[in-house]
Amino acid sequence: MESNTILNNQGRLTAKERIELLLDPNSFVELDKFVVHRCNDFGMEKKRVDGDGVISGYGKIDGRLVFVYAFDFAVMGGSLSAANAQKIVKVQDLAIKNGAPVISLNDSGGARIQEGVESLTGFAHIFRRNVMASGVIPQISAILGPCAGGSCYSPALTDFILMVKEHSQMFVTGPDVVKAVTNEEVNKETLGGASTHAMKSGVCHFVCEDEQQTILTIRELIGFIPSNNMEEAPVMPVSDEVSRVCHELDHVVPTDPNVPYDIRDIIQPLCDHQYFFEIQELFARNIVVGFGRMAGRTVGFVANQPNFLAGAIDIDASDKAARFIRFCDCFNIPIVAVEDVPGFLPGVNQEHNGIIRHGAKIVYAFAEATVPKITLITRKAYGGAYIVMNSKCIGADANFAFPTAEIAVMGAEGACNILYRKVGVEERQKAIEAYKEKFANPYPAARLGYIDDIIQPCDARAMIIKSLEMAHNKNESNPPKKHGNMPL
Ligand code: HXC
Repeated sequence: MESNTILNNQGRLTAKERIELLLDPNSFVELDKFVVHRCNDFGMEKKRVDGDGVISGYGKIDGRLVFVYAFDFAVMGGSLSAANAQKIVKVQDLAIKNGAPVISLNDSGGARIQEGVESLTGFAHIFRRNVMASGVIPQISAILGPCAGGSCYSPALTDFILMVKEHSQMFVTGPDVVKAVTNEEVNKETLGGASTHAMKSGVCHFVCEDEQQTILTIRELIGFIPSNNMEEAPVMPVSDEVSRVCHELDHVVPTDPNVPYDIRDIIQPLCDHQYFFEIQELFARNIVVGFGRMAGRTVGFVANQPNFLAGAIDIDASDKAARFIRFCDCFNIPIVAVEDVPGFLPGVNQEHNGIIRHGAKIVYAFAEATVPKITLITRKAYGGAYIVMNSKCIGADANFAFPTAEIAVMGAEGACNILYRKVGVEERQKAIEAYKEKFANPYPAARLGYIDDIIQPCDARAMIIKSLEMAHNKNESNPPKKHGNMPL
């Protein structure tokens, strides 16, 4: 989208400019522009401005309705007054009632200090709507400046968080409070900048170069997802052949099982026009998640990444995958799992920090998901990780394997080191060869029906699209319950 908006010398836009850039031209309808705050303490009666510190309303993205609110940092640091909260809640309620996404553009110092409990309560009202809207309408949060306190927790309750490099931070308490309480010296950027949240905490899903890129990324993201949980994602016209033979896939998986490769070299050719929209790219790089389209329809990919930690599943990868799988399931987006996994990551650190608890989230998320679920095993499918990565009995609708697939409890060497611990080297080596012969291929699993077909890599796109078409009208539901008790 072209924009005439001019960035100031720090690359910052005003709240109004941000909204204009986000929405289709002339589509914005502003609400509550005459609302003012009601505080008369600490000289606040002299600081009333129309609309207070939030601009709110609705408009369109590519012709589709969205609701939006933007904090205005120029009005008392974008701090949240009770009046601002009332404006935000009005937009959230309208969005839930009308089945359209809510997008928040955050640039706020949190609860307005002068208002005390009134502003705190404002956040409570917003958080409650965030939770009620969860799984009903998509919620997207851009962080475009320093955000503290409640201005972090509301985004944290939404589906996707985008941050701008160097100009945005999120922290529950800022550097001054950190220094006072823990005596740690840290600046705003290190404490809660975009890189910190993209790489370490996993709070942030997209790091963008500047505000314009951030806002255009939101527009693109909206294009991949439905407006609410009763709809399907928009279907895009596609000129890419549905049964395109992907010869490049025949050469991606190395013959030596110990040689890594980039799983995105498998995912991209599967997608229409080879375009894959990756999410949380910098966090838990041993698992790759994101959207692509197949035959014009949105698909959520969840893939082990042999290029990082050999694709082993660890705590962060479990959290990342489970959350993405659940988003797809909430919003009727079919899931394609691409699997090359040697197992869960071993280690004291992993065990002590709860890989059991966290790893269980992937099982839970795949097992409860009722959207169409397809699995493609490219190479290793070992142990519990094989089971959790959308195996047949976890509920996948179609499971395929490349001829290079190895489906076993563990690798041949590990297995025989346990089974043949007490025998000589020669005998153990023989056992290793026998184990490889039996399990370092997909045929035993295929004979038992756990794999529906063993396919040539070049046919993977066509086969997955046929399976997605087969499962398109799938009608499956889990037993009625208030809600499950997912391990957290
Ligand atoms: C009232 C505020 C404010 C706030 C900033 N301002 N935050 N006014 N309430 N919460 C005002 C400043 O006084 C200043 O006014 C102007 O906004 C710009 O702020 P600066 O500090 O000059 O900007 P900057 O240096 O960029 O620092 C931004 C900041 C910092 C990191 C956000 O202002 C800050 O730490 N603010 C307080 C953060 C905080 O602790 N908030 C309460 C969180 S508790 P003037 O007039 O000088 O221009 C909370 C409760 C919910 O949110 C918790 C739920 C779980």
